[in-house]
Amino acid sequence: MSSGGLDLRIQGLTVVYGGVTALDNVNIAVPSGGFVSVLGANGAGKTTLVRSITSLLYLHKGRVRRGSIELGGESILGKKSPDIVAAGVAQVPEGRKLFPNLTVKENLLCGAASRSDVSGIDESLEQNLELFSQLRPLLNQTAGLLSGGEQQMVAVGRALMSQPSLLICDELSLGLAPKIVHRLFELLTEINETRGTSILVIEQNASLALQHANDAYVLELGRVLMEGSASELRGNPMVQELYLGGGGEAHTSYAAIERPGRSRPTEHGQRPPVAES
Ligand SMILES: Nc1ncnc2c1ncn2[C@@H]1O[C@H](COP(=O)(O)OP(=O)(O)O)[C@@H](O)[C@H]1O
Ligand SMILES: [Mg+2]
Repeated sequence: MSSGGLDLRIQGLTVVYGGVTALDNVNIAVPSGGFVSVLGANGAGKTTLVRSITSLLYLHKGRVRRGSIELGGESILGKKSPDIVAAGVAQVPEGRKLFPNLTVKENLLCGAASRSDVSGIDESLEQNLELFSQLRPLLNQTAGLLSGGEQQMVAVGRALMSQPSLLICDELSLGLAPKIVHRLFELLTEINETRGTSILVIEQNASLALQHANDAYVLELGRVLMEGSASELRGNPMVQELYLGGGGEAHTSYAAIERPGRSRPTEHGQRPPVAES
């Protein structure tokens, strides 16, 4: 079982890749046992946020320039990824990143690599199979042969095998049928409610994310544009227009909607024009 949720507090986070500022003075909080969504279009900085928390920025030549990240009141900034897992963070990465040639069971067990309690690992595996019952008959199947939805269940299940206090999902819905995404969000809510696990969902699919989260943030070009309770943001006309299809036929693309402060700053403070594609 999860040991309950831990709160995550990100303050003044600025992240750069070379001269490009991907996150600019970002403040985000996930309360203990909370369910928080971060919404944003492509390039908003969502994955950079995840990499910052899980200490994987270095793999992408990114670095934290300023700010703090605390989990349960303790700084995790600069810690190595295994230590962050040990501190209670698990991620479902963008694109799932399963080992396609390993079986479902082997993939799930990869998530328990930081654990040595054999009977506890068996128990976590069984809990996963109760949660994702359609994986049970597929345990010895090669993961690469599963449907996208089943693979995403394995990716979430793998993350749960480390018994996280904070589960982070990056673009859970990408490329999946609405019915499957719906089911996945229901399962996240169940994990949140029954285990107390804090959940941070990073999404382009605003509709479901705002239905299931308590609080939400809108990231745009590396900055927090809006924040509030999920129900507040659902009722916000700009969120409706940008993310919930409220603009109807009037706007053909996200980029076509005019709003202030929408160019990404560089590390030196200039603001290059943003392509309108
Ligand atoms: N490895 C990288 N090197 C340089 N720039 C990057 C790298 N990864 C992301 N970026 C840039 O950082 C910004 C945010 O990217 P990302 O965090 O992937 O956004 P999102 O996940 O919201 O689509 C984008 O401008 C992107 O081009
Ligand atoms: Mg991303």
